[in-house]
Amino acid sequence: MPPALPSTHPHDGDEVKSALTAIYSWNYDSEIDELRTLYANALERQWIALRDLDWESGIDPEAFSRTFSVGGFPIQKTAFWQNLPSETKWEVSRRTAGFLLSNFLHGEQGALMVAAQLVAAVPHMDGKFYASTQTMDEARHVEVFAAYIRMLDEVHPIAPSLKKLLDGILTAESWLEKAVGMNVVTEGLALYSFRDMRNQTEEPLLKKLLTLVSRDEARHTGYGIKYLSAVIPSLSLEERHRLEDFAFESARLLVDSRAGVSMRQSVFEVWKKSGLDPLTAFAEIAKEREQIAAELQRSGGRLGPMRGFVIPTLKAIGLGSERLIGHFDEMFRANFGGRTESVAKDPWGVPEDLEAWVNEGA
Ligand SMILES: [Fe+2]
Ligand SMILES: [Fe+2]
Repeated sequence: MPPALPSTHPHDGDEVKSALTAIYSWNYDSEIDELRTLYANALERQWIALRDLDWESGIDPEAFSRTFSVGGFPIQKTAFWQNLPSETKWEVSRRTAGFLLSNFLHGEQGALMVAAQLVAAVPHMDGKFYASTQTMDEARHVEVFAAYIRMLDEVHPIAPSLKKLLDGILTAESWLEKAVGMNVVTEGLALYSFRDMRNQTEEPLLKKLLTLVSRDEARHTGYGIKYLSAVIPSLSLEERHRLEDFAFESARLLVDSRAGVSMRQSVFEVWKKSGLDPLTAFAEIAKEREQIAAELQRSGGRLGPMRGFVIPTLKAIGLGSERLIGHFDEMFRANFGGRTESVAKDPWGVPEDLEAWVNEGA
């Protein structure tokens, strides 16, 4: 007999009541062709973490720490970073990445549970079929991020604002809110961030892992875009406003510094533990302001994924009202002062072919 599993006792905050309305669909024919096609693509593109990634070679510490960046902040491009001793670079980069990737990992667990909820909650058979493949994808993402972190550091606890976001999506009663909160806002931000990290890193295992995960995320975001675009035109103004509010609240919890997103503080704690004094480091990095400003222009920094991807997506699915744009403008101003122009003026659109967009630079 195998040894008995220890019983698990959830702690405070480990449980959320997430009763949802399950909807049968008696129509088994395809109603939304684009979703049926996306389902077929997902079946074709399944991969196996243990077989398709080279775990044996391990992580290359030199390549990892040479091309390491912090959530859109281009520290690897500074002379300060390049001149640190290799040992310090490796310690700081592996532990900071341990913190960032842990939050990706926890987000993936949330996505796994939400995708499974969508199988029951969405009203069309095409939507149920697709959500079942996404559930499988998310299990694989939890598996690969956990395995990579295990080689790098330890799993760090979830950031409180991310936990609040996931609780909000899991307990939302409306499937439209779940889809906009998870597939459009959270996975849009994840897709942009994974792709950016993938483009920066030259560590082969991380590069391949992020490419495979991003291809899946491109479909997950595509599901949100295609499904919601088909349904939003039939909503009342009031329903549309409720959906916009939910989307904005999800975005706020992910990036607004006033929402308790103390990423900077958490990263500084990690640096201290790794033998790098954050105040000295920042004073040194500040001397290279021009180099950093040019790089930040490219990545958009911490709010880049919102501005460059999530907001254009919301506009594309029919949630781009002046009211919502006003909320985003206010949030950007509060985070960056008066230096930011209205997001209404942003020329970006959503890439036509998200998978091709991911493959650029792979
Ligand atoms: Fe995922
Ligand atoms: Fe996903």
